[in-house]
Amino acid sequence: MSETNRLIIRQLRPSDRHQAEALHEQLLADEFEFLVGRGERESFADYVARQLANEEGRDIPEGWVRAGFYVAERDGELLGRLGVRYELNAFLASVAGHLGYGVGPAYRRQGVAEALARFGLRRLHVSGVDQALITCDEANTGSRATIEKVGGRLDRQQPTVRRHDGGTTLRFWAPTG
Ligand SMILES: CC(C)(COP(=O)(O)OP(=O)(O)OC[C@H]1O[C@@H](n2cnc3c(N)ncnc32)[C@H](O)[C@@H]1OP(=O)(O)O)[C@@H](O)C(=O)NCCC(=O)NCCS
Repeated sequence: MSETNRLIIRQLRPSDRHQAEALHEQLLADEFEFLVGRGERESFADYVARQLANEEGRDIPEGWVRAGFYVAERDGELLGRLGVRYELNAFLASVAGHLGYGVGPAYRRQGVAEALARFGLRRLHVSGVDQALITCDEANTGSRATIEKVGGRLDRQQPTVRRHDGGTTLRFWAPTG
């Protein structure tokens, strides 16, 4: 792979605004929020600043956990994003897990989600988390394949959870080391 088509995973920047907003719109079709938790009137710069603060454990709202926001970029193009939750609250421990990722429709089936998931596992590892909970909807073949590729195995005690919306979530654990 040459220097020009290298995949880079980095934190969100204010200059990502237009591409990130476009990916947000595109991924709504998959019920995935690229700019998750962005306030209706929140400027993009404020949103970015909030993500960086959350990664550092600052200004975390009551009931939320420390989390990082990373994006995958290649040749200046934003391809997808990763959320890393460094701790689990009740909702994360049941349904959402430690990692969340979404890839723009134009960039799928190129290993981007796998690269993001592997990066997230490394971030968790250096933060002292040995086993990562990663979940997906039972019908999400691509996400399930990604989780299994990075070593995820179904939770023995509670492999599935029924959500409030009637859907079923699969719960996997993957080693971070
Ligand atoms: C699920 C999603 C993240 C996969 O992203 P991606 O970058 O295309 O995935 P990758 O290319 O890294 O694929 C990883 C593995 O999954 C397989 N895979 C990916 N999409 C697949 C699909 N739709 N059907 C079957 N297998 C699929 C790949 O083949 C690959 O395995 P392989 O290399 O052994 O063949 C992407 O489709 C997406 O963003 N969907 C909408 C948001 C979403 O569902 N996020 C996950 C929430 S849990």
